[in-house]
Amino acid sequence: MSRALPEWLDRIEADALLREPSRLRERLDALDRLELYADGADAPALQARLQARRSELESINQRLYADLRRDLRAGRNAFAPWIEALEPSPGGDGYDYRDDLVSGVLALDEPANAGPLPPDMVFYQPTPARHVFDLVRRAKLGDDDVLVDLGAGLGIVPLLVAMTTGARTVGVEREEAYVDASRRCAEHLGVSRTSFECADAREADLTQGTLFYLYTPFTGSVMRSVLDALRAEAARRALRIATFGPCTRVVAAEPWLRGGAGVGEDRVALFEVSGFGGGRDAVGPRRA
Ligand SMILES: C[S@@+](CC[C@H](N)C(=O)[O-])C[C@H]1O[C@@H](n2cnc3c(N)ncnc32)[C@H](O)[C@@H]1O
Repeated sequence: MSRALPEWLDRIEADALLREPSRLRERLDALDRLELYADGADAPALQARLQARRSELESINQRLYADLRRDLRAGRNAFAPWIEALEPSPGGDGYDYRDDLVSGVLALDEPANAGPLPPDMVFYQPTPARHVFDLVRRAKLGDDDVLVDLGAGLGIVPLLVAMTTGARTVGVEREEAYVDASRRCAEHLGVSRTSFECADAREADLTQGTLFYLYTPFTGSVMRSVLDALRAEAARRALRIATFGPCTRVVAAEPWLRGGAGVGEDRVALFEVSGFGGGRDAVGPRRA
């Protein structure tokens, strides 16, 4: 057997800094490697050492997440110091250590089985956390804003936005088990400026929203009718739409929307419309 793995384990066992709560990134990195090595280690003694280190590092992280939940319940934006520190910001729809942090802190219990999906509806997949925080930074949501996530899944976007801005948020999701999980999380963390509605997005009340968020929740005829409803709402007043993933291309083709230029599927795109009263050209462009 190569000496490299036992020697690396010796170093991990002796590394006091790794046990400092602030060394989350290093611990997540070590946990990734411990998991990887566990697959290739045959010797029972080595397996036991790998398992012991995994349990130890995971329990340090769990204590950190519990402390951050306490901060959130006390109204402090516990995510702020961690977001930039955890990872440089790659594009794309992959996940990184910020997602480990968010899922550790929110501790959402994902339902085992969602029901079968009707045509043109997309299964649950969360927006990677770095894109939610990127949206928060660029959208500059104020106290008067209401973000509505159409197809909210477990509610990560409404939860994080309500926790880190002054805006109110609403999640609209057709899958009841997801809605229940979102509500439990909001209650547990004391997030009062968010609510979750179990409904088909085509039936949702759009009158409150100032920013509508879509992470490719549906396609085809469902997307068409939601876009038509948003267009009717936009004819009456200003609103914005943020998109992520393949639906960005579809939304960008809507002639009544402006913005989102140059933004591909690997970043949240922001569109806006300022009450066009049915006319196609009465809106001004605004870049996020
Ligand atoms: C790609 S996930 C996005 C989840 C969430 N917006 C996020 O970014 O983390 C799409 C979600 O839309 C939901 N969905 C699909 N069709 C829907 C519809 N017609 N009305 C409401 N929700 C729908 C699915 O159940 C799924 O949870």
